[in-house]
Amino acid sequence: MNKVLNRMDLQSESNAIDQKVQDLLARMTLAEKIGQMNQQDATGDTVSADMAEAIRAGRLGSVINLSNAAVGNELQKIAVEESRLGIPLVAARDVIHGFKTIQPIPLGQAATWNPDLVQEGARVAALEARKNGIHWTFAPMIDISRDARWGRIAESFGEDPFLTTQMGVAMVMGFQGDDLSDNGSIAACAKHFAGYGASETGRDYNTTNIPENELRNVYLPPFKAAADAGVATFMASFSDIDGIPASANEFLFQQVLRGEWRYEGMTISDWDSIRQLSDHGLTDGDRDAAHQALIAGLDMEMAGDAYLNHIEGLIDEGLVSEHRIDQMVGNILRLKFQLGLFENPYTDPDDFEEYGNPAAMAVARQMADESLVLLKNDNAALPLDKQKLSDIAIIGPMADEPYEQLGTWIFDGDPDLSITPKSAIEALVGNSARLHYSRALECTRNCGWEDIDSAVLTAEKADVALLFLGEESILSGEAHSRANINLPGRQEELIQKVKATGTPIVAVIQAGRPLTLTNILDDCDAVLYAWHPGSMGGPAIADTLFGVRPPTGRLPVSFPRAVGQLPLYYNHKNTGRPATDDTVIAIDDIPIGSTQTSLGMTAFHLDAGYRPLFPFGFGLSYTEFEYANLTLDRPELTDGQTLTVTVDITNTGKRDGTEIAQLYVRDHVGSITRPIKELKGFQSVDVRAGETKTASFELKSEQLAFYRRNKSFGTEPGKFSVWVGPNADEGIELQFQLI
Ligand code: GLC
Repeated sequence: MNKVLNRMDLQSESNAIDQKVQDLLARMTLAEKIGQMNQQDATGDTVSADMAEAIRAGRLGSVINLSNAAVGNELQKIAVEESRLGIPLVAARDVIHGFKTIQPIPLGQAATWNPDLVQEGARVAALEARKNGIHWTFAPMIDISRDARWGRIAESFGEDPFLTTQMGVAMVMGFQGDDLSDNGSIAACAKHFAGYGASETGRDYNTTNIPENELRNVYLPPFKAAADAGVATFMASFSDIDGIPASANEFLFQQVLRGEWRYEGMTISDWDSIRQLSDHGLTDGDRDAAHQALIAGLDMEMAGDAYLNHIEGLIDEGLVSEHRIDQMVGNILRLKFQLGLFENPYTDPDDFEEYGNPAAMAVARQMADESLVLLKNDNAALPLDKQKLSDIAIIGPMADEPYEQLGTWIFDGDPDLSITPKSAIEALVGNSARLHYSRALECTRNCGWEDIDSAVLTAEKADVALLFLGEESILSGEAHSRANINLPGRQEELIQKVKATGTPIVAVIQAGRPLTLTNILDDCDAVLYAWHPGSMGGPAIADTLFGVRPPTGRLPVSFPRAVGQLPLYYNHKNTGRPATDDTVIAIDDIPIGSTQTSLGMTAFHLDAGYRPLFPFGFGLSYTEFEYANLTLDRPELTDGQTLTVTVDITNTGKRDGTEIAQLYVRDHVGSITRPIKELKGFQSVDVRAGETKTASFELKSEQLAFYRRNKSFGTEPGKFSVWVGPNADEGIELQFQLI
């Protein structure tokens, strides 16, 4: 009964808001309506006279990059008390992985495989952002990312639609809470709609060509889930999709978003992306660009003035109706009503906890803990036993970098809140071992002084060398793509020189993307991948290195052996000549004078094979797990039924541990070719040393549905495989029939 009442309450509240929207629209001039569609940059600690006048005159409906609540309240006061209708501003900001307290970059958050924690992190970020006068964040970024050269892979949840969907929805729920008008809720934004992650060569802003079945089966599902979860807004991508940039893409915004998905939220361009339609060569000037963006249905223009300057003329020429503008402005006003801005337009920072409060830091800490992925651990080099170590070398440009460990996309992150790995290790073992520190390189690139010799001397007197390497924050993120994704600068040389001392090496890598580690892997006894772990990266890394907690992170993205393998992803098609270990020919094995042949050859690179260096879902623990007794509760499934899958997981090691069991399926024959595997479920299982736990999964038949050759969505009968295992490359398989 409560659910029904709740739904009735929500419906009646929605009707009430719609009535308020219509009443307000009826009182607005066309100029005031157009003003609501205009968002401008409010960076800075003072209110400019031009911005104040624009707000007073009703020519501005939203600001981006508000720097603090005081400026926000000053702007809001002009809007509410000095403009003709007193319509409040909505203030937006990129709150991507925290506000002042910074959590791991989203790629690191995905590595936790813990949606509940990601939701909690978004909640913490929302509270800190709201304290600062922010009502709306431009997150989650749910672009499927298969190319580690792309700088924005850092901001994504990786290569898989299912994992990205789980994380994206969790972030939406965390930001928006149960009610957008709550003081700690902010509107979320599903971005970038759509297919931005397919930017050719990983070069940011580059062209994307995505066939419709790939768009619908890979890139759109996380956006559909965000829409179904009630995400308040959508943002258009910068990218050209099959010749029509997203900001003018009627298929995406009208046919799919508004038509098929019945989405009723608000849409916004990306930064000046409407006027960039002319740079794309789709339009000839701002008037044409505004016209095409209106046809596509972008309600608000971010940081451009094409709408402000041309909508009235487009209406006068009969190219756009005022009714259409009313619909778009209605979406904007509805968001403001939902946020409660008419009733509570101002922010009192004292209504909120302090930035970096213990609760916020605890979430950042747990997220950093669970984001760490152990990639290599030869001879149980880890965990380190502080009782047996008298001299520890801490070496490298990323050991003590409060800002760099925060990662990309932090406008407001406070480095003073950071605890670095060096500080954390000093706190943890400083009283039981002698610590020797050498930065060795001023930064991770060739950008300043280098003192590799001191690092070598430091390593020589130590029992273990902890090397803190990777990418500074600026080497990933928007507009920061790399064609070579090795460790930058002289870091590989640093590893080789330390290796030559004979001291065991534990490499801790902080980066905004998967790096090609092929050149250094053999020189390291252990490799811990920390992404950019945020404010609490130091304690998380220290506790993992010294065994206070075991590593539990798993890769949300495949790691390539060589950059030439990209784009690389586990859920690829089989091709007509699938590579297998026994069909691969290594370049050095080809006899001199060999003549051209292709018979028996398959889909691999002569100099890299076909496998990733580390597969999607991979991560080591401080113990070992074995999978056995995979069972299905039925050999056949019909539409509407659920398959129950169980598996036994045994901890065969000496330490308690947590395994993230993953369920994958394969549709062996389809009206279009289907991926060789698709993640359809995962769960975290705590198993004590020597114990066995049974994990159970529910696989619903609708999870096997896809966009078929005729573009309809549904299942197709036939043979399926199901695996449960520790990553995309390993697991036990059974088959079943969908009939
Ligand atoms: C940027 C990004 C987008 C961001 C917006 C506002 O160019 O593409 O993700 O939200 O501008 O900063």
